[in-house]
Amino acid sequence: MALDYLKLNDTNSILIPADDLHKQVSAILQGVGTPEAHAEITAKILVSSSLRGVETHGVGNAVRYSESIEQGEYTVPQSVDVITETDTTALLSCGDGLGFVAAHQGMEMSIAKARKHGVGMATIRDGHHIGMVAAYPMMAVAEDMIGMAMTNASKAVRPALGARPRVGTNPIAFGAPAGEERDFIFDMATSTIASGKIALAKRLGVQMPVGWAVTAEGEPLTEPRGDRGEDWAMNPLGGTREQGSHKGYGLGLVVDILCGVLSGGGFGTQLSAGENMTWTMAIDIAKFRDVDDFKAMMDDMIRELHDTPPLPGEDRVLVAGDPEADFQEDRLANGVPVENSQYDEMRARAIQLGVEIFI
Ligand SMILES: NC(=O)c1ccc[n+]([C@@H]2O[C@H](COP(=O)([O-])OP(=O)(O)OC[C@H]3O[C@@H](n4cnc5c(N)ncnc54)[C@H](O)[C@@H]3O)[C@@H](O)[C@H]2O)c1
Repeated sequence: MALDYLKLNDTNSILIPADDLHKQVSAILQGVGTPEAHAEITAKILVSSSLRGVETHGVGNAVRYSESIEQGEYTVPQSVDVITETDTTALLSCGDGLGFVAAHQGMEMSIAKARKHGVGMATIRDGHHIGMVAAYPMMAVAEDMIGMAMTNASKAVRPALGARPRVGTNPIAFGAPAGEERDFIFDMATSTIASGKIALAKRLGVQMPVGWAVTAEGEPLTEPRGDRGEDWAMNPLGGTREQGSHKGYGLGLVVDILCGVLSGGGFGTQLSAGENMTWTMAIDIAKFRDVDDFKAMMDDMIRELHDTPPLPGEDRVLVAGDPEADFQEDRLANGVPVENSQYDEMRARAIQLGVEIFI
């Protein structure tokens, strides 16, 4: 998270070791009937997100998922079914359960297909939230592959030139391995920011900058909203006509097409809040060229970029994945900040469910 004023600090959060957070998230999910293997996959991705500074998609969400399970919005135990499959493609159903589990399986299948045939992809319907999308391309990168994943969401973003929300925040994540440098891990909402940052701004009591959202009249909205409605909308990436809002809008629809239309699971206005369809892809670099040569060229590219003189007032030029890798180094050593209110919620939920307390 590159926004200083949304940073967690000693006052608004408490530091917890990542291992304890993992155990607590897994225990809460198992406490509402999630099978251990599925709870472990979900906990791993949520903790990775918190470690990487993407707290909007981190451990604080475990309570919400456990409530969705309890209320029957999510089905657990879920069955991730393969509906159609070829050597290189798969259409999966998430079984209306935890999105993390199906997205993880989709990327595992994509990697296995890529290992044999050079490329593999899966599109997944009947799904829910998959969290920080980078988690899935990172699985491919760990196997010396290029990975890509996207997920669509219910309407929150206005089309370019439009005055009502019609598209989800529809993130795209792409990863490629480097050699001595850090891997390239690019993960972005196709809106100006992820909606989680609006929720975080609201919880931290800070205003939104001009450019994140507008009213139905097109006026900038700076008071963070906790609701979704027709009277305001998030801006597509680019924000204005002059700054290229049609590009963010177009990318958002690419996500809707690969995740929602190709799977049959539905696009923005067809989804209810919490429904998300997903697409994963892996490309086996070794089928194209020597992997070490690929990584050496990645290193050259990254070093060239890092060596670019920064603008006045800026410290250094970054490459995607740098901010999150910096957070992870610090948080593995010093603990993961958890917002005070989310810490209280997690403990209260664990006590309510009668599961072991680890935090
Ligand atoms: N599951 C969902 O429904 C959903 C929906 C929307 C967003 N999300 C998630 O929200 C998270 C945050 O999204 P976001 O769009 O707010 O991300 P962001 O703006 O914080 O970062 C986007 C990308 O830019 C890179 N970056 C940041 N500063 C940089 C710099 N100066 N130079 C080069 N690269 C830089 C980051 O490494 C990251 O890859 C993502 O993990 C995304 O997957 C999930």
